[in-house]
Amino acid sequence: MLIRSAKEDVKYVMFSREQIAARVRELGSALTAKFNGEPPLMICVLRGAAFFFTDLCREMDTLMDMDFIAASSYYKGTKSTGSVRLVKDSSIDMENRHVVLVEDIIDSGLTLEYLVKLFATRNPKSITTVAMLDKDVQKPNRFDVDFYGFKIPDEFVIGYGLDYADYYRNLPYIAVLKEECYQ
Ligand code: PRP
Repeated sequence: MLIRSAKEDVKYVMFSREQIAARVRELGSALTAKFNGEPPLMICVLRGAAFFFTDLCREMDTLMDMDFIAASSYYKGTKSTGSVRLVKDSSIDMENRHVVLVEDIIDSGLTLEYLVKLFATRNPKSITTVAMLDKDVQKPNRFDVDFYGFKIPDEFVIGYGLDYADYYRNLPYIAVLKEECYQ
């Protein structure tokens, strides 16, 4: 594991701050249109979605309430191992509510699949899934996210909430990490 500085560890910037802001604005408008008149319960899946969530909510022109949950998928190196754990649950009653689950990235799809199954048992009116990034992963029957910001190739990305060993979440852009950092 090699962590130096963003200047040294970033291979290239995939999406700039401006590109992200423009896309989040579009997603906010689409969600505003979807829930107009019925305040959704916005749920942030910590920790990665923190920046996307707060930006997205501010781009939505509707009443809403918010909660924060934490899920953790186990990784071996840079690959998901396939097990998901709910580290912090929601304390808000979801019955008959439009629930919006907000993620930074959908990779194997297991986290969102797990969360949707779990929250469906709480009788919400609907569950909508949103991810800033949708990774191009070749996996049969992978969970299909309802709204996404950008489709990306299968690369290790950091920034705008996404981490490498918990570093680089605070980068204001989304970038590809140099292979030498994790090889
Ligand atoms: C990452 C990311 C998603 C999940 C996506 O979370 O934030 O929640 O993995 O992967 P999947 O589609 O393969 O399930 P992580 O467990 O790294 O926690 P973090 O958000 O705290 O970084």
